[in-house]
Amino acid sequence: MKKLYLIGNMKMNMSLSELEPYFEHIVGIAENSSNVVGVCVPYVYINMAKYMLDGSKVLFGAENMYHADKGAFTGEISAHMLNDFGCDLVILGHSERRHIFGETDEDINLKVKKALETGITPILCFGETIEERKAGSTYNIVERQITSALQDIDEEDIGRIIFAYEPVWAIGTGISATSDQAEEICGFAKRLLEDNYCLKNSIMLYGGSLKADNAQEILSKESIDGGLIGGACLKLDEFQKIIDTKVEK
Ligand code: 13P
Repeated sequence: MKKLYLIGNMKMNMSLSELEPYFEHIVGIAENSSNVVGVCVPYVYINMAKYMLDGSKVLFGAENMYHADKGAFTGEISAHMLNDFGCDLVILGHSERRHIFGETDEDINLKVKKALETGITPILCFGETIEERKAGSTYNIVERQITSALQDIDEEDIGRIIFAYEPVWAIGTGISATSDQAEEICGFAKRLLEDNYCLKNSIMLYGGSLKADNAQEILSKESIDGGLIGGACLKLDEFQKIIDTKVEK
């Protein structure tokens, strides 16, 4: 069996009372799974994740961070703070950060470097908008986003990053990429990482309306090593079905 990485991105959802049973149950789900299970949660719930998930098989982390170590950055959270709370993961360059909050390729590069320096695994997101896809520039956009995020990072460190292809038009729309579309771009990104950074075994996730009913087909594709799951991670029974996906090597 291929070991899949199935990581939830809760975004700005869930409450304290919902998360307590959620964390309790996901520990058992991960324990019984041969896949890697993770959840990225809103900052305010990271402390709870530390106490309920630390020492379990569930990886946990944040949905963002700031690149500076400390200082006058009202409202921001540093990599060191995430590290203090035992975060394994941090999502960086998510399209909602790029498009709603105006994060640039340069910001994302600084954040990826800082996460690596701090020992937190960055989940580096990239993906095109529908306009970019229609204009035929998907490959260019993907190449630019990956290349700029990896600027001045050693090849060895690049090997510690988890990559996530998330076409913007598939996020939260209920319309996922087809398995062939996802495979095409994940394969392209993997070849780019191999050719330009000598990275042979990159971990490449797909994200965008991944659900229990399309997980098997999408996750069976050769260049796809798992999923970054938004809406479908919020209901544990749905997430569990995705976590239960089994794929032959
Ligand atoms: P949805 O699964 O809700 O489309 O979100 C995907 C995503 O943005 C994960 O980071």
